[in-house]
Amino acid sequence: MINVRHDFPILQQTFYGKPLAYLDNGATTQKPQVVIDAEKNFYEISNANVHRGVYVLSEQATAAYEGARKTVQQFINAHSEKEIIFTRGTTESINLVAQSFGRTFLKAGDEVIISAMEHHSNIVPWQMLREQIGIVLKVIPMNLSGELLLDEYEKLLSPKTKVVSIVHVSNALGTVNPIKKIIDRAHQQGAVVLIDAAQSIAHMPIDVQALGCDFLAFSSHKLYGPTGVGVLYGKQALLEKMPPCQGGGDMIKTVSFEKTTYADLPMKFEAGTPNIAGVIGLGAAIKYLEQIGLAKIAEYEHQLLQYATQSLQTVSGIRLIGTAVDKVGVISFMLEGVHPHDIASILDQQGVAVRAGHHCAMPVMTFFKVPATVRASLAVYNNREDIQQLVKGLIVVQELFK
Ligand SMILES: Cc1ncc(COP(=O)(O)O)c(C=O)c1O
Repeated sequence: MINVRHDFPILQQTFYGKPLAYLDNGATTQKPQVVIDAEKNFYEISNANVHRGVYVLSEQATAAYEGARKTVQQFINAHSEKEIIFTRGTTESINLVAQSFGRTFLKAGDEVIISAMEHHSNIVPWQMLREQIGIVLKVIPMNLSGELLLDEYEKLLSPKTKVVSIVHVSNALGTVNPIKKIIDRAHQQGAVVLIDAAQSIAHMPIDVQALGCDFLAFSSHKLYGPTGVGVLYGKQALLEKMPPCQGGGDMIKTVSFEKTTYADLPMKFEAGTPNIAGVIGLGAAIKYLEQIGLAKIAEYEHQLLQYATQSLQTVSGIRLIGTAVDKVGVISFMLEGVHPHDIASILDQQGVAVRAGHHCAMPVMTFFKVPATVRASLAVYNNREDIQQLVKGLIVVQELFK
């Protein structure tokens, strides 16, 4: 049993006279007091720009910023801090790989494999690259449970495969993909692998060295940290070879009008003043989670998912979208005769916050022949009462639409 609800000030509020059942964690998570304090303290006590000043405040800010990099490195077991690039989020991290690695090392006809359950942020950057240099994009199909067809993946792999870019956990379906197998097979073909860990990073331990992935992307705000910060992990040897995507301050060694030389890793990819307070907040979020323990969180959320799935199945006319054997706490569903947006609006009045829409995964909606789904997504502070509130809310929906 984990009970950390009291750590999250926002959850102490009531809406429409009801406690808040916040079940939109796939979109963004709420922030514990320690994360809010870390940002606040930075602005109150240590605010200065990083890597520049020789005065004490700037040294403090730099130490805190680089300390957060160390925290991230240890959190995902990267080999070196040089492998941790701070970005604006998963989206920017994937775009960085597509534009820097893709544009430099891929050529027309080279193949990039993604999957049928990608978030738009792992589809569009590769389509942009296709328009720019003529790569070929291939898609691993899935079955009606929302599981990737690994036999089909085998057929797509060839010496032309240069990149495999795969979501670890689907934000629309909750499926946990067998990424270790996917990575190993890609490596046998000589392809590099990017893992979109946006939906897995807060819900299970991740060890990049054990996985062997070449790149891994995630966002702070889905990990109980601030918005506007993300991470790109990349193997040092690859990052060393890649050109920067953005030019400006902080990413250079020397500049003259004739020639510029770039800074060493990781600064080469961090042009301009970064989101210093946000990065420090991310460090605090990771430390908070580590105190609870990622394995313990995974176990707790798994039990809550089972309870939620069983409870929702008692609601008549419900259809679950995404029934993979290996899932995290994401439950997409339809209710017969009611549009998902109506469901979410009525649930709101019951104090239940869920997402309705295509979840930035339109191809998934097309595959399941639905315009949208309602999605309840769990986090460490959710409990059985939240699920009961959701189920009660759905009964109110049904009564209204009878
Ligand atoms: C699987 C997945 N990938 C990528 C993203 C994009 O994350 P961000 O908007 O933080 O860049 C999301 C966000 O919902 C996601 O769920």
